[in-house]
Amino acid sequence: MFDFAPVPDQPKPLLYAELSRSALALVEGERDAIANMANVAALIWMSLPGLNWAGFYRTIGDELVLGPFIGKPACIRIPLGQGVCGTAAASGTAQLVPDVHAFPGHIACDAQTRSELVVPIVRAGRVVAVLDLDSPEPARFDEEDARGLEDVAQVCALFL
Ligand code: SME
Repeated sequence: MFDFAPVPDQPKPLLYAELSRSALALVEGERDAIANMANVAALIWMSLPGLNWAGFYRTIGDELVLGPFIGKPACIRIPLGQGVCGTAAASGTAQLVPDVHAFPGHIACDAQTRSELVVPIVRAGRVVAVLDLDSPEPARFDEEDARGLEDVAQVCALFL
């Protein structure tokens, strides 16, 4: 049984350090990418407050395809370069979006979403997937979330 109990209200760098350690412990010894993505999505969901969607899109050809996630059903295919996820994948850089309505081309999967953070997962110099977090709170994510989620993405690069 996995029994991770995130400590609430701790500083974000500590929270994400614990999240990355827990993610590594979850995926170590298991090579199935779908199982690992599902467990990491669940771990993020239980560790970070104020989310309405957390999950993966994988790069397949010239588009992103929906992977394991927690939240409402989402759009399945996103062309590279489109939306927040496609921009993160095409640029290889984290996309921190305090107000999704102000992001040109934002793809609305859940009308409740107000802010979003997407980080690329890079393996051997190639964006193999992105990790996407959505929140119903405006400006839910900041630079500390972006850096912390990039650390989680590095763990994910080990199995993708
Ligand atoms: N909002 C994303 C689409 C994915 S959903 O948020 C789950 C985007 O603009 O790429």
